[in-house]
Amino acid sequence: RFRTMILGIPKEILENETRVAAIPATVKQYIVAGFNVKVQSGAGVASQISDNDFREAGAEVLSDAMAIYNVSDMILKVNSPTDEEILMIKDGSSYLSFFQTMKETSKVVALQKKNITGYSMHLIPRTTLAQKMDALSSQTNIAGYKSVLIGACHIEKYMPLLMTAAGTIPPAKVLVLGAGVAGLSAIATAKRLGAQVEASDVRPEVKEQVESLGAKFLEVESDSDDGVGEGGYAKETSDDYKKRQAELLNERVAASDIVITTALIPGRPAPVLISDEMVKSMSSGSVIMDLAAENGGNCSLTKPDEVVNVDGVRIDGTVNLAGTMSFHASQLYAKNVSAFILHGYDKEKKEFNLEDEIVSGSMFIHNGQIVDERTKSAIEGGDQ
Ligand code: NAI
Repeated sequence: RFRTMILGIPKEILENETRVAAIPATVKQYIVAGFNVKVQSGAGVASQISDNDFREAGAEVLSDAMAIYNVSDMILKVNSPTDEEILMIKDGSSYLSFFQTMKETSKVVALQKKNITGYSMHLIPRTTLAQKMDALSSQTNIAGYKSVLIGACHIEKYMPLLMTAAGTIPPAKVLVLGAGVAGLSAIATAKRLGAQVEASDVRPEVKEQVESLGAKFLEVESDSDDGVGEGGYAKETSDDYKKRQAELLNERVAASDIVITTALIPGRPAPVLISDEMVKSMSSGSVIMDLAAENGGNCSLTKPDEVVNVDGVRIDGTVNLAGTMSFHASQLYAKNVSAFILHGYDKEKKEFNLEDEIVSGSMFIHNGQIVDERTKSAIEGGDQ
């Protein structure tokens, strides 16, 4: 009655996507757990994994995407499906990837019509047990790190304080807005390079974490807000808070060589923290790394996936920074995915345990029925 479940790993088709949802080590884990694994030829090439590496781990390598979609019970991917991929997904199969289901509602509706069961890595609950499956953290950690390295290459300055025979060079000034996973990673990296680092966040409890990394915490004084919303995440701030934050940032942004912005509010567009005027106040040669670009950006002049130059100030809106470190990004992402699959899959029953709160929490659609409330209301509300 039970047959072996087939996991399919297609090659990512988005331009500039270098990551892959499985690596040889996770393929081995799947085989040991009793799965059958099919990988599309070339799927790992941009992450330095050859077809042969996958074969040696026990996967069967198939030549084209259609062959993978045709035979797989569950597709493991990095990005949510494009229209072209949705056409290929087999009716009644399962799909797992990063998926902003409240934003990408038309894709959810398309999956509904194909009776798909879908899991989003964005929806994995942020509990202690699920930490090893937290792909948002593993990937934004990379983005925070890499943003400092790219920023440091953009500015034509040293990062550390240097005392030389030819004179003393002051350390570069780095400002980090939003001190969640990406922000803390950026702070730690900038500190290691010797920069002078300041950071700000709406959640006051972050202060201690920022200071423990050796950075200065910039506090916004406002009685009307504490910036803490549901589940310990940020919420949209009051007008008074926004005004006071802008006053504080006006001065700090102008003094910075590198500004790294990571501020996000779940399910909402990114808050605009840096105005056109603030950009104009910055010195020529300085840089803004806007890690919130995919969600609209924290700077009013950010263009997603572009680097723009405004009077000598570079604003870098590169969307997939994790993908610029494909080797480790794939390694960590694939392990997050396998931790989820191996946790959620009941080997005896050969099905996912829907009673489990990590499984049910990350599932947004089950056999074509939308089961995530926020996704459902986004679709009913007509959000796109
Ligand atoms: P995020 O990516 O949603 O947001 C990034 C940061 O931007 C947050 O720190 C947020 O407070 C800040 N922000 C939002 N609006 C802002 C504004 N107007 N001005 C300044 N800053 C603003 O958050 P992320 O990085 O995903 O983490 C959020 C929290 O979740 C953190 O406290 C983190 O420690 C926690 N977390 C817990 C995990 C677990 O327990 N397993 C795993 C990962 C994160």
